[in-house]
Amino acid sequence: MSEAQMPQTLDETAAAAFAEKAGAMLEAGAVAVMMSIGHRLGLFDLMAALPPSTSEAIAQRAALSERYVREWLAVMVTGRIVAYHPQTKTYHLPSEHAACLTRGAQLGNLAVYAQAVAMMGQMQERLIACMETGEGLAYGDYPCFHQMMAEDSGQTVVARLFDTILPLAEGTAERLATGIEVLDAGCGRGAALIEMARRYPASRFTGYDLCGDAIAFAKEAARKAGLDNIRFEQRDLTGYDEKARFDLITSFDAVHDQKDPQALARGLKGALRGGGVYLMQDIGGSARLENNLDFPFAPFLYAVSLCHCMPVSLGQGGLGLGTMWGWETAQSILDAAGFRSVERHVLPHDPMNVWFVARV
Ligand SMILES: C[S@@+](CC[C@H](N)C(=O)[O-])C[C@H]1O[C@@H](n2cnc3c(N)ncnc32)[C@H](O)[C@@H]1O
Repeated sequence: MSEAQMPQTLDETAAAAFAEKAGAMLEAGAVAVMMSIGHRLGLFDLMAALPPSTSEAIAQRAALSERYVREWLAVMVTGRIVAYHPQTKTYHLPSEHAACLTRGAQLGNLAVYAQAVAMMGQMQERLIACMETGEGLAYGDYPCFHQMMAEDSGQTVVARLFDTILPLAEGTAERLATGIEVLDAGCGRGAALIEMARRYPASRFTGYDLCGDAIAFAKEAARKAGLDNIRFEQRDLTGYDEKARFDLITSFDAVHDQKDPQALARGLKGALRGGGVYLMQDIGGSARLENNLDFPFAPFLYAVSLCHCMPVSLGQGGLGLGTMWGWETAQSILDAAGFRSVERHVLPHDPMNVWFVARV
């Protein structure tokens, strides 16, 4: 009998340790979906503001069904997120937990990303079919995608735009104050652009996005903000080729899931005037799987890729590079697009992403 044919002996200790780990993953996955529900219903925000309270009091304040709230609380208690006091039958959210589960939370709101886990479950049947056929999906197939993205970029981009992000491109804040033309390519609901338009009234801002629902939201937000230096347009950036129109172009997490990221980078370079800057945020993993074993949230990001970023690119007839296309790929498409210089940065508040400053 050759060595390859020998029956394998089971390392029972290693098998038991792995079974424990797999069980913990089931628990964590279930808690994450319930965390998403708690976020959507504002339950964490409510509980952060309440003293220890009964399920009746919490349900009443949230205008929800007590029986459902009590079961949700049981998940949160056994998941060690909410503390329970059996004598008084009261529940409370410790402030250390509220610090990463509430809107505007000090450490960033991780419950925002729990929505992506819930979305994966909602998409299961479609994804099974895609895995069988190799077909892609459309943005409209996903519930709440643009809302979740806006919440994500609200914390990673908008909250740090002026103190950390724009300073990456030296001289940009000064030029914005003087008055320049700015494009946000793949602007989604447009929050970053709206904040810039508010801050720099002498500059003019344009946001393009494929999705009509995101653009309608952005237009309404700009109208409510009373801004007259901003416009949003539903526009497919595939084959984009405006010439020398803008001084600053941004894209926040909006290139890897395009049909053809290389063609887009070339198009954006061509749309910049002399002295112009392209500021690009994208996912910062490596193009090599073996380098990503310790990358923050790597399994989560690959799952988001399989669930969303890859199928929406394939659905546009695109390359389907996926969320973890790799900073090396991003760097090489910017180099190949012919920018004069390309700098790469990783920001401490945003370890999942990489930032490029590319100049013409
Ligand atoms: C991951 S989201 C990021 C949205 C936004 N920048 C943010 O940070 O919230 C990617 C965006 O790219 C847009 N997009 C994808 N393919 C596009 C295309 N071909 N033309 C224009 N926009 C596109 C999507 O509609 C989506 O809003």
